[in-house]
Amino acid sequence: MPTAISNSPLLPGLLAAFQAHFRAVPTTLARAPGRVNLIGEHTDYNDGFVLPCAIEAHTLVAARPRSDHQVRLLALDLDGATDSFRSDATIVHSSRAPWANYVRGVVRELQLTGLAPCGADIAISGNVPRGAGLSSSASLEVAVLRAWQHLQGLPGLDANAIARMAQRAENDFVGCHCGIMDQLISVRGEAGHALLIDCRSLQARPVPLPPGLAVMIVHSQVRRGLVDSAYNERRQQCEAAARHFGVAALRDVSMPQLLAGAAGLDPLAWRRARHVVGEIARTEAAARALAAGDLPGLGRLMAASHASMRDDFAITVPAIDQLVAILQQVIGSEGGARMTGGGFGGCVVALLPQHRVAAASAALAAHYRAPGGEAALVWVCTPGPGAQAMAA
Ligand code: GLA
Repeated sequence: MPTAISNSPLLPGLLAAFQAHFRAVPTTLARAPGRVNLIGEHTDYNDGFVLPCAIEAHTLVAARPRSDHQVRLLALDLDGATDSFRSDATIVHSSRAPWANYVRGVVRELQLTGLAPCGADIAISGNVPRGAGLSSSASLEVAVLRAWQHLQGLPGLDANAIARMAQRAENDFVGCHCGIMDQLISVRGEAGHALLIDCRSLQARPVPLPPGLAVMIVHSQVRRGLVDSAYNERRQQCEAAARHFGVAALRDVSMPQLLAGAAGLDPLAWRRARHVVGEIARTEAAARALAAGDLPGLGRLMAASHASMRDDFAITVPAIDQLVAILQQVIGSEGGARMTGGGFGGCVVALLPQHRVAAASAALAAHYRAPGGEAALVWVCTPGPGAQAMAA
């Protein structure tokens, strides 16, 4: 039994709820993690590099096939909310149950891929905080796809295909034009490692975390809201900049080309492009620094990444900038801190020696309050494995 599933604290509650609601036992369990991105923000849809790790927080799904093509959903964390639709009919958006659109979207992808998804009873539970920028939605999409793959034995679906299907569900059905990072790391994460992912080729190189290094995630308690429109707008600006330079994606533009080619491009789009081109180079450099245990170098790259997200890409908020400043001060040259994820609230990631974690937490408790008065939430995370499925 994959230990990450059998050890999940969510498992007993999920099994009990499944049996109580569906009056049967599940046949399949699937688990998919959230993620924290160490560096490489808004580079994925520009065909660049990202450096995320899978985290322990995850979505767990229990499933049982049905022969009548009905799909019935139960969401434990949403007060037992339910949804149902048919797996053999046109799947449309639900305005009544927006959470269910992530499931509807991936089942529709199974249909579009010609895989004739079966009906199923599905119960869902998760402990990835929602609205925190830790990819709760990607973990839901991937867990559901892994569950269906196991239910129907779909051997043709490899890890990259699953990630692509989950991404398309979010792009085409949910309406967020996200890149591939969140879904890919949720499928392919490796325990104890970050992955340097080339978002053009989907090649991924595991980068071990040096012993004694802590990955700290700090939630600002500013919930990300209404971000899809701002996200999609950034993506359009990047695409406009790529068109201006006559390339497929900003991955293909060098910093000298960018600096020489501002004329004729909207100045805002040029600044968005400067973030992306610089961030792609920083991400490759950070993977080298991490592998070499070069914490001062890593800290400088993270600081430059944060400044670029704040000043050129304009996706940070004051509370996040304040968190980063507090952490940078206490960490000094022993590591670094930056916002992680899509932006507009959510979390900061810090890399620092384990023996500095207590001092960093104390500094946050003393000096940080969210606009609503809350203290920051702090987790020290261990990079965990990617998605798994097994017989229940
Ligand atoms: C969100 C998206 C990802 C990526 C990040 C920013 O998490 O889902 O594809 O673009 O934002 O790096």
